[in-house]
Amino acid sequence: MAQFERPELYDFHGVSMTHYFTYNWENLQNFKALPDDILVATYPKAGTTWMSYILDLLYFKQRDNERETSLAIFDRVPFLELSIPDAPTGIETVDSLPTRPRLIKTHLPIQFVPKSFWENNCRIVYVARNAKDNAVSYYHFDRMNMVQPEPKDWNSFLHRFMEGKMVFGSWYDHVTGWWDKKQTYPNLLYMFFEDMVQDTGRELERLCSFLGLSTSVEEREHIRGGVQFDAMKANPMANYSTDPVMDHRISPFMRKGKVGDWKNQFTVAQNESFDKHYEMKMKNTTLKFQTTI
Ligand code: A3P
Repeated sequence: MAQFERPELYDFHGVSMTHYFTYNWENLQNFKALPDDILVATYPKAGTTWMSYILDLLYFKQRDNERETSLAIFDRVPFLELSIPDAPTGIETVDSLPTRPRLIKTHLPIQFVPKSFWENNCRIVYVARNAKDNAVSYYHFDRMNMVQPEPKDWNSFLHRFMEGKMVFGSWYDHVTGWWDKKQTYPNLLYMFFEDMVQDTGRELERLCSFLGLSTSVEEREHIRGGVQFDAMKANPMANYSTDPVMDHRISPFMRKGKVGDWKNQFTVAQNESFDKHYEMKMKNTTLKFQTTI
């Protein structure tokens, strides 16, 4: 296991961030998106890898079968704002992609997205996940990812989550910021992790229609099978087992993939205070989530 330094969280223009995502800021803000770029945007742990893998199969499975066995998902769909030592930056990885369209991943809150994406009217797929499962998944991720801040105990983590003291800031601001953008930017598809679990086939169809892809029913069915949780968990190209910053002995990246797993983590008291706080934070939005299915 290579040695990495767990970073400190700090306030960056009003959003909690770590230097691994702000170090390359000027280049990031000046990033030149291409009109056919497709951006996958999420709050961390909302199903980014799942959506990235689906998009990759939709665009490249037919064209390039070797990619399936030789290229990890984080190299196929680079993480735009990533800048960790001794590795190419996310931007460098995007700029060296040999194929089009370029599929690009970001966790940036809406106000930080490089303006060239808007100028080029790029298609964007946002995936949101209910706050409780998102928080639990984030907690276990921070335990196993050595370039994330130390999560400490679950109770304190949950409080920091509620206060927005997480890498990429407040979940509440993130999901509502992107939701508001959707009202004025038609090239944004807003999807839900819970819907994808409930009916992956239906959501795949929605996605293809947004992207203008005429993928056949057979092909979609094939992809649906390949992106089921167990298939991705067993797939070294999709399960992050080749990423040196993660220690899967602590908690696997492909952990449970469920809706409602928060019930195994929240105490009754935590749940009550979370609900009260949630209601207050979300009172001005029409955005609604399912916490069980
Ligand atoms: P859990 O920790 O709840 O298991 P991200 O890719 O944004 O980091 O999100 C990771 C979360 O998505 C993890 O959640 C992971 O298990 C889940 N996930 C990834 N692929 C999935 C799939 N094919 N089906 C269901 N959940 C999936």
